Amino acid sequence: MRLNIGIDGPVGAGKSSVADAVAERLGILHLDTGAMYRALGLTALRRGIDVQDEEKIVRLCRELKVTVGHQADGQHTFVEGEDVTGLIRTPEVSMAASTVSRYAEVRKEMVRIQQRLAAETDMVLDGRDICMTVLPDATAKIYLTASAEERARRRYLEMKEKGQPDSYEQVLEDLKKRDDQDMNRPVEPLRQAPDAVLVDSTGLDFNGTVEAILKIVEEKRNG
Ligand code: DC
Repeated sequence: MRLNIGIDGPVGAGKSSVADAVAERLGILHLDTGAMYRALGLTALRRGIDVQDEEKIVRLCRELKVTVGHQADGQHTFVEGEDVTGLIRTPEVSMAASTVSRYAEVRKEMVRIQQRLAAETDMVLDGRDICMTVLPDATAKIYLTASAEERARRRYLEMKEKGQPDSYEQVLEDLKKRDDQDMNRPVEPLRQAPDAVLVDSTGLDFNGTVEAILKIVEEKRNG
């Protein structure tokens, strides 16, 4: 049977780096589904398309070829063949991704691609709707979170390292705004699936979080 693991959670919970480590330990791939919404958000910004304009964004999503590939240094995301991996982590793209992800037709398209990839290969998927929508029959389902202040602190340190100048207060405000949009949208809002196991990483370090998830996966696989 396919080994598919779903990890959902709010902004800055560390889903992507934790999912990467979990996948590596299990010898399987990691699909960062947020990168696909980011690629769409980036393209809208670049082409001057208003992200609030649902009709235009849905049209863009349908005509755009967003693909992912796995290389030695992890996932790369492509738009029409251009590698946009290094361009999709800015605060502007984060907010644009959150906005375009509100639209039902956009979600339908993204979910279809993600389900196809997960059916082909054993993988860990991280996102917002993985456990409820993309992988309702996942081997293990995790809801990874931490307090907003802790998530903002981690995100702030990460951005400082990259030379991005936002203050901690700004990072916290952006994070709360995006959480609010992701949790209160009408279509597939972020929520903990009833059968997902909650992992609160507020008091855990990175390795502790990875180990906690591996333990859950092991229990689910054996049980
Ligand atoms: O995980 P992330 O921060 O890279 O995701 C960017 C945005 O994309 C996020 O604010 C909401 C949206 N998203 C989503 O709606 N569903 C997913 N499975 C992944 C991301």
